[in-house]
Amino acid sequence: MFPFTSLSFTTRSPTSPDQETTITLEDAELQVALQYSETDGLKPLVDWLYGLQELNHDRKTGEGWRITPGCGSQDLIYKAVQCMVNPGDAVLVESPVYGGVIPMFASLHCEQIEVETDAHGIRSSSLRKILEGWAKGKPKPKVLYTVPPQYGCNPTGMTATTDRRKEVIELAREHNFIILEDDPYFYVYYGEAPRHPSYFQLELEEPEVGRVVRFDSVSKILSAGIRIGFASGPTVILNAIDQLTSTSNLQVPSLTQVMIYRLLSSWGYDGFAAHVKRVAEFYKAKRDVFERGMRKHLTGLAEWDSPEAGMFFWFKLLLTDDADLSHQGDSEDVIRTRAFENGVLAVPGTAFIPNGGKTPYVRASFSLIGEDEIDTALQRIRDAILQERAARKAAVV
Ligand SMILES: Cc1ncc(COP(=O)(O)O)c(C=O)c1O
Repeated sequence: MFPFTSLSFTTRSPTSPDQETTITLEDAELQVALQYSETDGLKPLVDWLYGLQELNHDRKTGEGWRITPGCGSQDLIYKAVQCMVNPGDAVLVESPVYGGVIPMFASLHCEQIEVETDAHGIRSSSLRKILEGWAKGKPKPKVLYTVPPQYGCNPTGMTATTDRRKEVIELAREHNFIILEDDPYFYVYYGEAPRHPSYFQLELEEPEVGRVVRFDSVSKILSAGIRIGFASGPTVILNAIDQLTSTSNLQVPSLTQVMIYRLLSSWGYDGFAAHVKRVAEFYKAKRDVFERGMRKHLTGLAEWDSPEAGMFFWFKLLLTDDADLSHQGDSEDVIRTRAFENGVLAVPGTAFIPNGGKTPYVRASFSLIGEDEIDTALQRIRDAILQERAARKAAVV
């Protein structure tokens, strides 16, 4: 009784972008795509993803982990949190953190313990200090949420990053918590040095595995609207996530799973690698244009680390040139007033600070904006900073 008799979509070749291929779903395959299917994912797709994890993270099946798909990684992170965290628990979150998880923890009335980060990610020394100073008798956190850094993964930072990650995993074992590794920009890495290993891979060097739940997403590389992500991690946790799915949205739509499977299997792992390389090169070129604009308009007025993955610049507005002014300023105030009035917006850093507070940082996305707009936008941010500086000077006088 379903009215669809055939569905077709046309895709660009990963190696020769001018070449297109049409994939048609019909007969038995279409029936599968139009029906309910298993909560733990369409088997051929999940098998393909196992192969991908083995290639990229050196993890093989049979090591006590499994994969499950979700409606984007956001869905899976939410479910993992629901499965592991009780209302009122203390949780460890890197700071600044992806703004999309702050309300998850807030809605559970969690105490969000902020772990310091820098250009190389979590400062394991900050984490150790928090855990070693933990109040006796107070239940320790069960989870640490982190997004592997998109900044500063330069050759000198590489070793520091890997060593720090190893220390974080050791701390997870010592203090008995799970690392939620949210890595949607993994395939959008365009740094020069080889990418450093994920937590999911690094835990193989531990006496035992099972401390990492990893979240991957196709949103940045295939389509965000298709809403597919996948979690890889300890079977017991992934089973709990599936139980939650089976009582909430039942499954990821079969149709999008079939579409993605047909696309990926037609490409193969090499085709997929060629595609994501092209995506990363696209963002690298955008990053370069944005950074040229930053140098032109914001030298001396902002500080930043050049991103080596993803599509965001995280930068500090230097709102004062007076060393005596202890207050570094509040980017939110400047964005809401001066920048807004000048016709430019960026996300104030406060949106990424779990417990709020003022910060001079902002985040700007360079994914959609064109070269001319970048120039205009950065010129306007420059004007906003200069106006703020002038107003501060006048106030002090
Ligand atoms: C760090 C991070 N995690 C999760 C998500 C959500 O991704 P998805 O589209 O896979 O749900 C995003 C989206 O931008 C993100 O930046």
